[in-house]
Amino acid sequence: MTHRSDLSTEAILQSLRAQRLGCRIESHAEIDSTNLEAARRARDGAPEGTVVLADAQTQGRGRLGRTWVSPPGCNLYCSVILRPDLPPADVPLLTLVAGMATAETVAEWVAEGVAIKWPNDVVIDGRKVAGILSEMECDGRGVQFAVTGIGVNLNAAADDFPPEVRKLATSIAEASGRAVDREAFCARLLSRFDDAYDLLLRQGFAAVVPLWERRDGLRGRRVQVRDGSERIEGLASGLGPRGELRLETASGLRQIVAGDVNVIEGYRLRG
Ligand code: BTN
Repeated sequence: MTHRSDLSTEAILQSLRAQRLGCRIESHAEIDSTNLEAARRARDGAPEGTVVLADAQTQGRGRLGRTWVSPPGCNLYCSVILRPDLPPADVPLLTLVAGMATAETVAEWVAEGVAIKWPNDVVIDGRKVAGILSEMECDGRGVQFAVTGIGVNLNAAADDFPPEVRKLATSIAEASGRAVDREAFCARLLSRFDDAYDLLLRQGFAAVVPLWERRDGLRGRRVQVRDGSERIEGLASGLGPRGELRLETASGLRQIVAGDVNVIEGYRLRG
């Protein structure tokens, strides 16, 4: 049965250990999308580290224009405003950094099978438990702000998802058999994201790569990448220096910057 409770910003702030993230946390009962709300706040001048949470989203946004199913009272829908001194082309690194922090946080609740599927999925035994969506606004001077949105299925039950999503998705509660305290999870996630973001800013993405690769569920797997009408097949072999997916193909090494990845039948995503 789905576990439901209200989100308390006080409880999150009590256990949050962060330098930048969570300087302000606002929590909404229902909103169109925490990413959209965070972007509105950022345009109004909200500082880096502002966090927008919602109990439910009516227009939860996924990658490539997809919808993020956002039932009330059970999951985490969280967006963080960032103002990094990075070129626009490096903003996708925020997704990888947040994905690594999310996977490590999920692994505190679920001991086995937690992996990252490049670029933005966190899976448990191959089923999606979390997704990351980073969006940005730039002007002639560079990145004005970025919003990194993280959705984690914490306590959703199978019937909280539409039928077409049920087989592909899971929640921490489903995988572990125990209800998740949303505030405790959110505080750990923001603390870990804060650490990983700090590492990115101080030491560059190269320092993040080995940590990310420890959770890489695709490495050593035969995959097919679909980017528009293009289909590329090869052996996934970790991350390039700008966060690209390295693919050993019949015609040599390719660095994939965008696309949907599927593990080829007969090969399992590593957990
Ligand atoms: C994906 O896997 O396609 C990315 C999903 C990102 C979902 C989160 S939920 C919080 C934030 N608000 C949104 O509208 N989307 C992100």
